[in-house]
Amino acid sequence: MSFCELSGKTILVTGASSGIGKQTAIQISELGGRVIITGRNEKRLSNTFKELSGDNHIKVIADITNEDEIYNLVEEIPKIDGLVHCAGIVGPTPTKFIREENIEKLMRINFEVPVLLTGRVLLRKKLNDKSSIVFMSTIATRMPYFGGALYNSSKSAIESYSKTLALELVKKGIRSNCISPGLVNTPLIKKPLSEGQMELVDESLGRYIKKYPMGIGEPEDVANSIVFFLSDESRWVSGTNLLMGGVVQ
Ligand SMILES: NC(=O)c1ccc[n+]([C@@H]2O[C@H](COP(=O)([O-])OP(=O)(O)OC[C@H]3O[C@@H](n4cnc5c(N)ncnc54)[C@H](OP(=O)(O)O)[C@@H]3O)[C@@H](O)[C@H]2O)c1
Repeated sequence: MSFCELSGKTILVTGASSGIGKQTAIQISELGGRVIITGRNEKRLSNTFKELSGDNHIKVIADITNEDEIYNLVEEIPKIDGLVHCAGIVGPTPTKFIREENIEKLMRINFEVPVLLTGRVLLRKKLNDKSSIVFMSTIATRMPYFGGALYNSSKSAIESYSKTLALELVKKGIRSNCISPGLVNTPLIKKPLSEGQMELVDESLGRYIKKYPMGIGEPEDVANSIVFFLSDESRWVSGTNLLMGGVVQ
C-alpha cells in the first residue's frame, strides 16, 4: 500500500471545476479513490471528469449556493468517506465600499455553503465513521491584505466552525481540518468580486506576491496536503489548521 492510498474511499469535492478542487479530484483518483465532483460550470466540470484516473466517478452540476441544490446533491450521492470544500470566491473590497450584497455573496459560498452542506450530509447519514472533512481557509486570516476584510472574515468563520465540528464528531472518528494556503496560482486570484475592480486586484496581488519568499504555490502543493488529510495516514489529526506558503512569522 502506498503512502496516502485512497482506494476504497469515496470523496465528495466541491469547486472541482477549477484550481485546487480540480487538482484535488485528480490526485484522489490517482491514489485509487472514487470521486464525486461538483461545480456549476458544465464544460469545466466535464474537463475535470475527463482527467480522472480509474472508473466509477460521479459528476454533479449544481449551484450549491441554492439550498435545494445542496439537498438534491446529498440525496443523489452514495455514502462518502471524505468531503472537501473547495468552492469559494474572493474579491478585494476596501472596507468603506462593502455593501450588503457583497457580504451576502461572499459569506454565502465561503461560509454558509460548507456549513449547510456538512450539516445535510451528517443529517442524512451520508458520512461513514472515520471520514475526513477538509475546509479551505487562507493564510490571510493571519496575514491580512488590503481589501481582504470580507474574504478573511469568511475564512476565519470557517476555521472556527471546523474546530467545533471536530469536537462534535470525534466520537465517530470523523475528523475535520482546515488548510490555509498562501497565494496559489489558480483562476481565483484574478477574479474581482464586482465589475471595475481589476486595478485593485492587480495592485493588491503585486504587493501580496512579494510576501512569499518561496514564491506562490501551485494547486498540486495544496492538493498534496488535502490528500494527506483524507488518507488514513492522518487518522490521529483533527481540529487542526495547516498554514502553507513558506511564510515564517
Ligand atoms: N488560490 C488561492 O490563492 C487560494 C489561497 C487560499 C485559499 N484558497 C481557497 O481555496 C478554495 C479554492 O480556490 P481556487 O483558487 O481553486 O479557486 P478557483 O480556481 O476560482 O475555483 C473555485 C471553485 O469554486 C466553484 N464555485 C464558486 N462559486 C460556486 C457556486 N455558487 N456553486 C458551486 N461552485 C462554485 C467554482 O466552480 P464553478 O465556477 O464551476 O461553479 C470553482 O470550481 C477557495 O475556497 C479559496 O478561497 C485559494
